[in-house]
Amino acid sequence: MKKMVVFNWKMNPGSKNEAKRLAEAVREAKKNSNFKVVICPPFVYLENLIKEFKEIEFGAQNCFWEEKGSFTGEISCKMLKNLGARFVILGHSERRRYFKETNEEIAKKTMSVIENKLIPIFCIGETLEERKKNLTKKVLKNQLLSSLKEVFNLKFKNFRLIVAYEPIWAIGIGRTCKVEDALETICYLKKILLDFLPLSSLLFFYGGSINSKNIFLFLKEKEIDGVLVGRASLKEKEIISMLS
Ligand code: PGA
Repeated sequence: MKKMVVFNWKMNPGSKNEAKRLAEAVREAKKNSNFKVVICPPFVYLENLIKEFKEIEFGAQNCFWEEKGSFTGEISCKMLKNLGARFVILGHSERRRYFKETNEEIAKKTMSVIENKLIPIFCIGETLEERKKNLTKKVLKNQLLSSLKEVFNLKFKNFRLIVAYEPIWAIGIGRTCKVEDALETICYLKKILLDFLPLSSLLFFYGGSINSKNIFLFLKEKEIDGVLVGRASLKEKEIISMLS
């Protein structure tokens, strides 16, 4: 299976035209690439980009768990599915931190994503303090088990779950996790999940300050199926180098 590179544009860029330019750069770079590429733009650009860039796959950065109704400002998985999106990033540390998303809310979103036959990119990660106190494994295990309980009970097992290990102290500041530390953590997560889900349902990603200089160090590892890229996915030069 091809390794995956997921570009999380977060709340960028500022205009439809800039979004189109970035997607054009991805389309060009993708021609020479062995990776599968997914762009997760802000909601407002999704429809146009999906229509115009058929050779790229798209995802959303968030969703709500209800299908429809009086939920001002929210977007349902059904709406995303109908647009042609295939992935949804869930539980990103920025959403947990700035929007106070809880494990329980992330659990409901994850179920809704799976029930709508979309693929969750389920993010977990520890803070620097937690790491220093040697709490990394405990924190990650809790994030996994408290948000995925219902998923473990699903009768049908033919769904995909992407678990993205994103140490919070490595996001957005240029400090990457060592590959061997990411690997150790991913193996730990895999061991926990294999008690509940078949390996064929699971993919494991790393995210946090990935750029053209370090992307290959992570993607060459057998245990790492893909990466999530934030800042570097907004620079054309980086896009080209990362995908080449
Ligand atoms: P970054 O973001 O690449 O800018 O560190 C990664 C992420 O938030 O997924």
